Amino acid sequence: MYARVIGTGSYLPGNPVSNIDLAARGIDTNDDWIVTRTGIRSRHLAEPGTSSSELGTIAAQRALEMAGLAASEIDLIIVATSTPDFIFPSTACLIQGRLGNKGAAAFDVQAVCSGFAYALAIAEKFIRSGSHKRALVIGAEVFSRILDWNDRGTCVLFGDGAGAVVLEASDSPGILATALHADGSQNGILNVPGQICGGQVTGDPFLRMDGQAVFKFAVRVLAEVAEEVCGSANMATSDVDWLIPHQANIRIIEATGKKLGIDRSRVIVTVDRHGNTSAASVPLALDEAVRSGNVQRGQKVLLEGVGGGFTWGAVLLQF
Ligand code: UT7
Repeated sequence: MYARVIGTGSYLPGNPVSNIDLAARGIDTNDDWIVTRTGIRSRHLAEPGTSSSELGTIAAQRALEMAGLAASEIDLIIVATSTPDFIFPSTACLIQGRLGNKGAAAFDVQAVCSGFAYALAIAEKFIRSGSHKRALVIGAEVFSRILDWNDRGTCVLFGDGAGAVVLEASDSPGILATALHADGSQNGILNVPGQICGGQVTGDPFLRMDGQAVFKFAVRVLAEVAEEVCGSANMATSDVDWLIPHQANIRIIEATGKKLGIDRSRVIVTVDRHGNTSAASVPLALDEAVRSGNVQRGQKVLLEGVGGGFTWGAVLLQF
């Protein structure tokens, strides 16, 4: 029994906001610095009041449409997000309500930018166990809400959006191998350390990052976890048809592809147009690659995430 992807969908809010637009809004930055350091040229930013559940619902509807399923046919909904609408109920329950599904298990996963790899791996275990037949796995974020727009070292890096897949139990190959890891001792290099306490936000409610520490960590673990999942499936990393890594920085993406022997032409890149959308980045990139005709049925696709926690993970699948 495999868990097979039978539909993908995504959604980006509003018009692209370019690096030049950000500088025009008064951020002390420039296009050349951002492009050279990160590869980012533009990102999408949700209007105030637009929530992760709204973005995630549209992505989910598009994935259901591709799968040819009604929302009522789904029995598991997992949402990866670090920017939930509320402390509770979960964003998964809110999306379930918006979709009109009743009765499916629904919960959120918090693994920051690795969230989609975590959520997909969890859904696969449910399906392989036989307990569930059809899952919606969604990554949805409005990171613009937790950015300090006075911190030019972080606010130019992120964007908003959502991506989703529908997984179905199948005899034909689907997800071939998964690997998830974390190292909580590294929680300080990327975090939002604020809390809500007694009706007040206490501490710092904005995203903080030691960019160079994150960079070094990401390049190392993305290569290691790719080797691990390919090893589990008795494949060489160079046999992968498409690498879809977390979209944070083009230099991390290129370094990872090089270490793994995967040519640049087989690496899906959206960071230039999406920025870093955290848990949404991988399903957004997958959906774009499927709808553009790059990723074809039968091809081997390696999805990878890395992010705050620190967390990292990979999913190798036959599309
Ligand atoms: O999902 C996980 C996500 N995060 C990542 O993957 C991020 C990984 N890290 C990185 O991508 C890089 O570390 C950054 C792109 C975040 C930063 O690049 P860097 O080469 O490590 O730059 P830096 O932080 O050391 O800053 C270098 C200079 C500083 O100026 P001085 O002190 O040398 O005069 C910064 O003030 O660049 C300046 N700077 C900027 N200049 C223009 C920082 N941000 C900006 C900016 N525009 N937006």
